Amino acid sequence: MLSEVLLVSAPGKVILHGEHAVVHGKVALAVALNLRTFLRLQPHSSGKVDLSLPNIGIKRSWDVARLQLLDTSFLEQGDVTAPTPEQVEKLKEVAGLPDDCAVTKRLAVLTFLYLYLSIFRKQRTLPSLDVVVWSELPPGAGLGSSAAYSVCLAAALLTVCEEIPNPLKDGEHINRWTKEDLELINKWAFQGERVIHGNPSGVDNAVSTWGGALRYQQGKIASLKRPPALQILLTNTRVPRSTKALVAGVRNRLLKFPEIVAPLLTSIDAISLECERVLGEMGEAPALEQYHVLEELIDMNQHHLNALGVGHASLDQLCQVTRAHGLHSKLTGAGGGGCGITLLKPGLEQPEVEATKQALTSCGFDCWETSVGAPGVSVHSATSLESRVRQALDGL
Ligand code: PMV
Repeated sequence: MLSEVLLVSAPGKVILHGEHAVVHGKVALAVALNLRTFLRLQPHSSGKVDLSLPNIGIKRSWDVARLQLLDTSFLEQGDVTAPTPEQVEKLKEVAGLPDDCAVTKRLAVLTFLYLYLSIFRKQRTLPSLDVVVWSELPPGAGLGSSAAYSVCLAAALLTVCEEIPNPLKDGEHINRWTKEDLELINKWAFQGERVIHGNPSGVDNAVSTWGGALRYQQGKIASLKRPPALQILLTNTRVPRSTKALVAGVRNRLLKFPEIVAPLLTSIDAISLECERVLGEMGEAPALEQYHVLEELIDMNQHHLNALGVGHASLDQLCQVTRAHGLHSKLTGAGGGGCGITLLKPGLEQPEVEATKQALTSCGFDCWETSVGAPGVSVHSATSLESRVRQALDGL
């Protein structure tokens, strides 16, 4: 068991192209969003496991001795196991949460306990740990915040019990695990996602683990080679939406107008493929012309998504405001409100970006300037001087 402090981070995700079409077997491109979740794990000898999630107001502590006495054989079903509803019920007893505990809080605690007890079940003694997780990602906005949480937990817990080595060498500020180790992190993170979402596609945890850009089609996930890191504005319209209702709406429209809607889905598929091709060609030194192609693809897809019925007045406003500043936007994720992305071309003057952000904020939207194609789960030195790690730590 390692005794040093571990500091881990993992990115959220946005869908670049292919939302909704992916439900009907088409290609989607998902990219790592450089808004990250951070985890600090400190092994100690207090005989307690402490979990603190400041963003959602969770502070819990369990006696290791009590957890040690639990019959956790319900978790022993082979190697990396899928949580069953019965297991989740048993974990609820262990968690000892009040009945009126909000669902988000409950699921976050259950996921932690599930991963802690499962990953350490081969150890003779359970470790005493202090775990803090905080995030730059707004929860419940379709940005993969739960996946980033599960990925951070899986990476840190597997590392502290030396199931995978800590890749950080002396004097380094940041490093990543090997491909094999990332595969194991991803497998466990997927089980964490299953505790939270029941039956997720696995794309969110894959993007958070691997970073960069992924192509996703009918359960098959593949990393894009050398995707460029694109600067974007990410805007949350703060209009709540139900992914389930929007997905059902598209299905109904497809059933009602198959000859009209099926070609839209085929066209969105072609947009994803064209975008994949352009990203693959952009490499280290992208040309402005390639950005113009990406902008055209964004515009066409946004129109298609509107035709599928998943637009919203707030998203139209987002597109108009950014268009007035010469920028191109589309919704990302389920639509009907939620989030949108705006591509920032190289050479754009910072005052222009600031003016756009200001205009979006005055519409009542939340707006972040960030990048996509960010690195996946990473380990940072505990004394890391990276300003955002420091800022986040100071805020605790
Ligand atoms: O709400 P999000 O960002 O998780 O996106 C949903 C994406 C859809 O294609 C609309 C649904 C899905 O399951 O793929």
